[in-house]
Amino acid sequence: MRKSMFAGIKSGIAALGMSLLPVLSVAAETPDGAQLFRENCSVCHGIGGRSSLKDISDPALQDAISDQGIAEQIRHGTPGRMPSFKGDFNEAEIAALVRYVRALRRRER
Ligand code: HEC
Repeated sequence: MRKSMFAGIKSGIAALGMSLLPVLSVAAETPDGAQLFRENCSVCHGIGGRSSLKDISDPALQDAISDQGIAEQIRHGTPGRMPSFKGDFNEAEIAALVRYVRALRRRER
């Protein structure tokens, strides 16, 4: 009786450990879009995306470009104006950057 209770607690703890593992590894693998933007994009776009080069927080620009378009812009850049980041980011990092660019959208028009 005692022994089986103990075994039950032990396997309960083991199950808890197993169920926490995926959560922790997903968290560790989710790239930080804000940090990637700060390190790679803010030099031209500013922390908030509102630089004189191109205001990417502008709702009109945000409406005109699709998520795919933002990803393409990151991959290919604009010759002579924005560098291509092809090969610098994996797909998860590009997705995080796209989400971050969306979060920069200004409220007012
Ligand atoms: C060397 C400066 C520079 C860097 C670094 C840079 N950009 Fe740009 N970016 C520009 C310029 C300049 C434009 C405007 C290009 C144009 O008008 O055709 C632009 C345009 C854009 C646009 C708008 C595209 C459109 O079709 O309107 C997005 C979105 C964007 N950049 C995102 C990023 C992201 C995300 C990063 C970092 C991964 C980044 N940029 C890094 C200079 C830069």
